[in-house]
Amino acid sequence: MYPLLRSFLFTQDAEWSHDFTIKNLKKLQGGPLSCLFSQNVPNKPVNVFGIDFKNPIGLAAGLDKNGECIDAFAAMGFGFVEVGTVTPRPQPGNDKPRLFRLPEAHAIINRMGFNNKGVDYLVEQVKQSKYDGVLGINIGKNKDTPNEEGKNDYLICMDKVYEHATYITVNISSPNTPGLRSLQYGEALDDLLGAIKEKQALLNQQYGAYRPILVKIAPDMDDSEIEQVANSLTQNEIDGVIATNTTLARDKVKHLQHGEEAGGLSGMPVRTQSTHVVSELKKLVNGKMPIVGVGGISSSQSANEKLQAGADLLQVYTGFIYRGPNLIKEIVQGLE
Ligand code: FNR
Repeated sequence: MYPLLRSFLFTQDAEWSHDFTIKNLKKLQGGPLSCLFSQNVPNKPVNVFGIDFKNPIGLAAGLDKNGECIDAFAAMGFGFVEVGTVTPRPQPGNDKPRLFRLPEAHAIINRMGFNNKGVDYLVEQVKQSKYDGVLGINIGKNKDTPNEEGKNDYLICMDKVYEHATYITVNISSPNTPGLRSLQYGEALDDLLGAIKEKQALLNQQYGAYRPILVKIAPDMDDSEIEQVANSLTQNEIDGVIATNTTLARDKVKHLQHGEEAGGLSGMPVRTQSTHVVSELKKLVNGKMPIVGVGGISSSQSANEKLQAGADLLQVYTGFIYRGPNLIKEIVQGLE
């Protein structure tokens, strides 16, 4: 079924295809026609952060930015679903066009810029969903919030989503919000993580429930930068790390159509780079902090490669666009 839908969607503009799919999944989820995208995936339970996952394959952030299709993605068999990135206030994102397929490379370049309907809308969607599995909510800052005040945006989002999330992801690695990645380094990172841990402790008391905090990092770091980030994450007792977001590198695609578009590159060309970050992190945080591996997973083999590098959980985005729900089943069945 998906190959047919894909061959239609790939004749259309990439963002139009995304919006069309989300709109229809939203309409169909929970109803009789949800059989069109539902599937049974074998149980491969794992326990990470003290949380039970029915399988270790999750939907990566950015596909369901507003949390409108949680039930649909759950029905496809994902072991967990991450929604967002969401910001305190709604924002339109960057000018279009801002999403490009690179089919020869099984890749995407995007410079969406956190287009989203705001955290209040997302929380409403989560409340309406019937999903009772693991839900991650990925939070960010508004583009027009000065970087020095960026911390407040994360804290505002934490306040609003804490009660509704199984875990919260702090996204400091999108290349499409000017200055955001500077939060990954030095004092700015320690300051942000310290404030987030304080807020987590307060909310833990308020709700009597501990929600793990994960930090999502970029692949564009050398080994000493990875080490600095890892030290900061462990010192601040962050619960987990998601590696990685999209890359700024273009060496593998610059000869292709759209290969030099600005933004973040995802899919097969980021696979090795992401796996390298996962394996470096594994050496540095060994045992202390679970790792979610994401970047270029498009087959059972590339999924197992991330697990062998040290990932405890996996996420997919671009591979899922190219392969559809069948990818989830294939990965779960092929887990080593
Ligand atoms: C993303 N990604 C992303 N990540 C994030 O934390 N917040 C976001 O809003 C988005 N938005 C987004 C939009 C689009 C169009 C793409 C392709 C990607 C990054 C995504 O979650 C993932 O980390 C990377 O794409 C690498 O994984 P894949 O795509 O190679 O499986």
